[in-house]
Amino acid sequence: MNKLCFLSLVIGLVSQSAWAENATTGVGTPSTLQAKNAFIANLMKQMTLDEKIGQLRLISIGPEMPKPEILKEITAGRIGGTFNSVVLPDNRAMQDAAGHSRNKIPMFFAYDVVHGQRTVFPISLGLASTWDMNAITRTGRVSAIEAAADGVDMTFAPMVDITRDARWGRSSEGFGEDTYLVSRISATMTRAFQGTSMQAPNSIMAVVKHFALYGAVEGGRDYNTVDMSPVRMQQDYLPPYRASIDAGAGGVMIALNSINGVPSTSNAWLLQDVLRRDWGFKGVTVSDHGAIKELIDHGVAKDFREAAKLAIKAGVDLSMNDKAYGEELPDLVKSGEVSVKEVDNAVREVLGAKWEMGLFANPYLRIGAAVDDPADRNAENRLHRAEARDVARKSVVLLKNQNDTLPLKKQGTIAVIGPLAKSSMDMMGSWSAAGLARQTVNAYDGIAAAVGDKAKLVYALGSNITDNQHAITYLNKMDDQIAIDPRPEQEMIDEAVKAAQQADVVVAVVGESRNMSHEAASRVDLVIPGRQRDLIRALKATGKPLVLVLMNGRPLALGEENELADAMVESWFLGTEGGNALADVLFGDYNPSGKLPMTFPRSVGQVPAYYNHLNTGRPYRPNDSNYTSNYFEEPTSPLFPFGYGLSYTQFSVSDITLSINKMTRKDKLTASVMVKNTGKVAGETVVQLYLRDVAASISRPVKELKNFQKVMLKSGEEKSVSFTLTEEDLKFFNPSLKYAAEAGEFKLMIGLDSENVKETTFNLL
Ligand code: BGC
Repeated sequence: MNKLCFLSLVIGLVSQSAWAENATTGVGTPSTLQAKNAFIANLMKQMTLDEKIGQLRLISIGPEMPKPEILKEITAGRIGGTFNSVVLPDNRAMQDAAGHSRNKIPMFFAYDVVHGQRTVFPISLGLASTWDMNAITRTGRVSAIEAAADGVDMTFAPMVDITRDARWGRSSEGFGEDTYLVSRISATMTRAFQGTSMQAPNSIMAVVKHFALYGAVEGGRDYNTVDMSPVRMQQDYLPPYRASIDAGAGGVMIALNSINGVPSTSNAWLLQDVLRRDWGFKGVTVSDHGAIKELIDHGVAKDFREAAKLAIKAGVDLSMNDKAYGEELPDLVKSGEVSVKEVDNAVREVLGAKWEMGLFANPYLRIGAAVDDPADRNAENRLHRAEARDVARKSVVLLKNQNDTLPLKKQGTIAVIGPLAKSSMDMMGSWSAAGLARQTVNAYDGIAAAVGDKAKLVYALGSNITDNQHAITYLNKMDDQIAIDPRPEQEMIDEAVKAAQQADVVVAVVGESRNMSHEAASRVDLVIPGRQRDLIRALKATGKPLVLVLMNGRPLALGEENELADAMVESWFLGTEGGNALADVLFGDYNPSGKLPMTFPRSVGQVPAYYNHLNTGRPYRPNDSNYTSNYFEEPTSPLFPFGYGLSYTQFSVSDITLSINKMTRKDKLTASVMVKNTGKVAGETVVQLYLRDVAASISRPVKELKNFQKVMLKSGEEKSVSFTLTEEDLKFFNPSLKYAAEAGEFKLMIGLDSENVKETTFNLL
């Protein structure tokens, strides 16, 4: 079969003839770099300047431009790609329009597929709580398969911004505070999205974001300034982006924040020196939403024209939802202020990305033929419920379980109470892509399904999520509204108390609405909002065993709740199968194994709170705290440390055995412990290895995660868990930004969270 025949078959019934000339490789034909470069060079020779600039425009489907105009613009060769359309006929119509453009350059379609497409998986912070790379892989793969089936070629994910400040609403979107854990997940998620080949019909291109340091915005206030030392950047904040790039990410999204005074969008050091020169990145860079024009507000561009000029010169290839390139580049090139070469560099990357996504070979690779469109794009059989349930239950972190309150028995009367108990919308979490609330199992329904007719459920709302009118007005401007029951709060609390009094146990589902943990949703406080805390106090006063199920997208300050609750479960926002997964945990059909990927502070005043801090000259000592680095109103330690999470069984960790305690730079050192399940049921835990460089040329953290292993043990079972370290694991950025290991003593710690560890030492010679 010749190539053209093959292509027509693949493309099916749609617009074959419009596309045939651009056929270069059949689907599955390996793309060589040479072929790619030659093809793109040749294509660029045929493009006018306007057509080149058109390729740099990434249009948001929605308010940015009416649909008919989009089609017209595409046909005129003035749009490179769009995002936010997941409707096959719509994407097909746009691709058809591109087929009628002069150069027939295919469009690409992007979307924020962050934690699922139609099947919503737990929010990223929940995924990180699994510490399970197989679960992350499954999440990324299913997301890619579902997104590709919706005609999506590219996702704006993974989001790997390290954050140490829970006030930041986008904490929910990232994988937490730790460089090592986030980097591992970053690489894993990237590979999962992109599959074995980005040119496969069920792979999507990963665009890692937000480059760079977005999670370090001052005060946790979104979009705020970032000011950071070069050592901290290199050591703690940049590695997760690099991990995604090293794993092959096709794209990088540029952050909205400035870094040491220079906005990322106009930051040539960041986009050229770090990204391309030092890291060898070969893919496409994408601005964030409207970021080019924001250079004016940043105060580095006096007008639109200057903003466009700064961005293209810095290395921003695609301009997202921003007219700056389209309107300003033609004249900037004409006047000689921007060279054709600078435009060409960006165009080459955009075309390169299209090649990598397999779109020149087959523009309809992911759109398919109209005859194959699903009759109902929300059909149940397009979901992956089993996968979502499994990952969701792995994301749950058991924070407290006094007197074995959990697991619950499927008997008697259970009061399910709280403003989040029946909220399917909130269960999806923010950035829920094409997920639907009506296909999502809320906590109440999950519990009801689990008990069937074995137990009786009583329900009460208990309180609104918040009674803060300022917050309600603000949050209601976002996508979905906060549901407010107009009854007096006390009446709702009284009703909940009555329900609790009839029950044997109370399960209160409390926390934040999903739009409280979102973009542009920073908080000044970390307590459970509104009258929910009064509700919890009132429920406690009934004397019934109280189980708190928390739904939230950031660490909360839970000091009082930890005192009041008999058991406490952190469930984040668990996604489509959330209620079922939660019920699996509550009733012991699944033994919780999640571990916190972020420190839970006692109070908002403790933030930034992170376990891998420096020691200072006057470290905090719990029993002798005068004139030490601490807060005086309460212990300075966290409420729940990084890496923490309980199980329905118990584990013991033996002392550490080292294969050698003097290590040359060529040696491998093996550290081993025996881990035993000392409890009555089988369970999984995460064995964590931390290191500290005791005396170095620069102050080094009190501990840093260097590896971990998730182990499953039957009751009474014991296993040896070993980690191998090389010189690489001991390296850090010294004051001259040289990445090297220094000879001397190291503390090596192994434990089941970052605080309770066994400790030994070794020396690097
Ligand atoms: C966000 C990005 C997102 C983009 C497109 C922006 O507001 O910062 O994370 O990818 O919108 O939806």
